[in-house]
Amino acid sequence: MTNQMLPFHRPEITDDDVHSVVETLRSGWLTTGPKVKRFEEDFAKYLGCRHAVAVNSGTAALHLALDAIGIKEGDDVIVPTMTFAATAEVVLYFRANPVLVDCRPDTLNLDPKQIENAITPRTKAIIPVHFGGQPCDMDPILELARRYNLKVIEDAAHALPASYHGKKVGTIGDITCFSFYATKTITTGEGGMATTENPEWAKRMRMMSLHGISLDAWDRYTDKGSWYYEIIHPGYKYNLTDIAAALGIEQLKRCDRFWEARRRIASHFHEAFADLPEVGVPACMADIQHAWHLYVIQLNIGRLKINRQDFIKALKGQNIGTSVHFIPLHLHPFYRDKFSHQPENFPQASAVFERIVSLPIYPTMTEADVRDVIVAVRKLVLEYRR
Ligand SMILES: Cc1ncc(COP(=O)(O)O)c(C=O)c1O
Repeated sequence: MTNQMLPFHRPEITDDDVHSVVETLRSGWLTTGPKVKRFEEDFAKYLGCRHAVAVNSGTAALHLALDAIGIKEGDDVIVPTMTFAATAEVVLYFRANPVLVDCRPDTLNLDPKQIENAITPRTKAIIPVHFGGQPCDMDPILELARRYNLKVIEDAAHALPASYHGKKVGTIGDITCFSFYATKTITTGEGGMATTENPEWAKRMRMMSLHGISLDAWDRYTDKGSWYYEIIHPGYKYNLTDIAAALGIEQLKRCDRFWEARRRIASHFHEAFADLPEVGVPACMADIQHAWHLYVIQLNIGRLKINRQDFIKALKGQNIGTSVHFIPLHLHPFYRDKFSHQPENFPQASAVFERIVSLPIYPTMTEADVRDVIVAVRKLVLEYRR
């Protein structure tokens, strides 16, 4: 057993990251300015998308995306139940309805068949979440969107870098939203990005991210600065700082290397658990690139004398930090009570929730760390197998 706790996540912060942030601090320009512009340009180039709008969280990106496509009070927006709070709460910001949909039991992604059942005349958009970094099956989702005239806003908080049938996530749906929260595949501490091919939506998101002030007034954040500005709409305060962008620029340069490291850890885990019927490893679809933000195992509880909670506790006892992604939204008091959701309305997510454990997977893990996780999981499985 490792004698030091292996945390569930630890970001890689290099001297280049520190230098870039310090240089920005010393530049005298702290808020949105040249570093944000450069981060947006680098990000758009990296993905090959037309527009990238930097904001101060993934949640802000989702909110602005729904605003840009014109979500209104009373609209329905389809959201997976197997997601984080942010995906559904942004729908409620508009007094619109997040219509929860069950997941597939293998990838834990949205099930396109279930989406169609949830579509009503009020449905305006679908928010597929690329769970753990594995892209959803986008072809049938885009086909449904075409057929029912819906917009597709991808929640790609986990999915950098990922691709689906050769297309990078960030260039597929109408708007794609990324997160740079501390545990994500690249980080700015807090931060997010919305990408789109549509110049009108990009313009609207940019404007609404800074108080709905006309875009010309953004010049006051450049050398052309002027005191004059016009408020076009009541907007929000979602702009990213140059301090954060300075970190993002450096992290993005290492995005492919980070991915390679996570992919390697995932394949070690796959191999190490392949002979254990008690441990289901993540299913990986054909013709996709998985970002491997998360490595979620599914315990075969029927074959174990221990439940998921106790398994997590026992792993902690072995000094291995873990997490659970996610407690499905329909089980949270707010969603359960407001929408009268019952666990049996979402049979897959409700069942899967009892089995899932997210193992550590990040580039700062050493080979010994990866081995420690494998040894601890195997030890517990052998100890508690029926
Ligand atoms: C699936 C999903 N969507 C959205 C978000 C929100 O991102 P942020 O924390 O940057 O607002 C998260 C964040 O953790 C997430 O996991």
